[in-house]
Amino acid sequence: MPTATVAPARRVRGRLTVPGDKSIAHRYALLAALAEGRTTLTHFAPGADCRSTLACLRGLGVAVDEGADGTVTLLGRGFGQLRSPAGPLDAGNSGTTMRLLAGILAAQPFPTTMIGDASLSRRPMRRVIAPLERMGARFEATDGHPPLIIHGTRLRAIAHEPQTPSAQVKSAVLLAGLHADGTTSVLEPAATRDHTERALAAFGGRADAAGLKVSVTGGQRLQGRELYVPGDFSSAAFWLVAAAALPGSRVEVEDVGLNPTRTALLGILERFGARVHVEVTTSAAGEPRGIVTVEGDRTGTLDIAPEEVPGLIDELPAIAALAAHGGQVTVRGAGELRVKESDRITALVAGFRGLGINADERPDGFVIAGPAAGATRPSGGRADARGDHRMAMAFAIAALAAEHPSTIDGADVVAISYPGFFATLERLVNPAAALGAS
Ligand code: S3P
Repeated sequence: MPTATVAPARRVRGRLTVPGDKSIAHRYALLAALAEGRTTLTHFAPGADCRSTLACLRGLGVAVDEGADGTVTLLGRGFGQLRSPAGPLDAGNSGTTMRLLAGILAAQPFPTTMIGDASLSRRPMRRVIAPLERMGARFEATDGHPPLIIHGTRLRAIAHEPQTPSAQVKSAVLLAGLHADGTTSVLEPAATRDHTERALAAFGGRADAAGLKVSVTGGQRLQGRELYVPGDFSSAAFWLVAAAALPGSRVEVEDVGLNPTRTALLGILERFGARVHVEVTTSAAGEPRGIVTVEGDRTGTLDIAPEEVPGLIDELPAIAALAAHGGQVTVRGAGELRVKESDRITALVAGFRGLGINADERPDGFVIAGPAAGATRPSGGRADARGDHRMAMAFAIAALAAEHPSTIDGADVVAISYPGFFATLERLVNPAAALGAS
């Protein structure tokens, strides 16, 4: 299990871009498969998760060509034209792949088996199985967990009201709805990322949103497109947090996705005491993108309320790292973190304690409160990523604030969403050396 060593740093400084957005890339690839004609996706997300989506699509007969420059070309098959796969489709570590694809497979006239790695095999799937069964499909699962055997059929439209806000569930139902007779709607308890809705419009389709309700009508036709995947805000989050947590830092992330359903972190960083500047430079396919600059000024106290959680769900591990060397971060109403790639509440608290940071677990959240009593900086130490990319990155950012170097076990898991993470960390910590080396 490869480890990474993270040395203490006083500050981070630099200008960078981040890899393509994982959530958007999954959706573009899936819709490209259902569209007619060729789709070219530039700046495609390079992590293993989106590779899993591409591999599953190949299994369904979609021609996918991955260029060395991050461009992916897909030849759409059109609705109803996917091919019965020769074996199980492997979603790897990717919940988005399994849940969104389940929505599409529920409508195919053949059974499909979907499998995943050990982490994905522990994640709850009833949240997609229940609505898709109401639409007419039949599922076999083990106590609501993968592997899933999906018996697709002709679907009927439903009105779904999930109990828990989830863009994956919303998207699975909408993707199934595209194949159903009639109009399918999802009424969410809180707003979640709306990339599926925006992507659908980009492919010439339509989703109608009214408040927290979104509807699609079956029988639409989608057209292949040339699309650009903006930088992943959730990857940028780690650098923005590092800049906010270490006074004297300045980080500028260019070409990063600024869809407002993803950027709640920016307000949180301001509340913590950082200076934040945002400039939307362009918008394509309904997705704004631009430049975010964060300068660290002082450490503060943050209380993240339950209603803020859906807008911050993937940023909470990074937000925890804000309080690594001072201040305090309390998160409530985030029980969903327990069913992510790891139990992120237990994993975060264990890892932060291993680095010498005060951390307490709550049933639905955590409290992180700087170095252990009497110390001005955390000691540093050892933290286990527990197979979770966002844990590895949160621990790396927290470790910057430490007195001594720290070891992160299983750090190579960053490749799920951010293969170049540690090289970029090195450059931001040590900009002069990086300049000299180039
Ligand atoms: C995602 C939705 C979120 C998020 C995940 C990506 C998506 O999951 O945590 O990383 O792309 O739709 P939930 O839908 O389970 O909240």
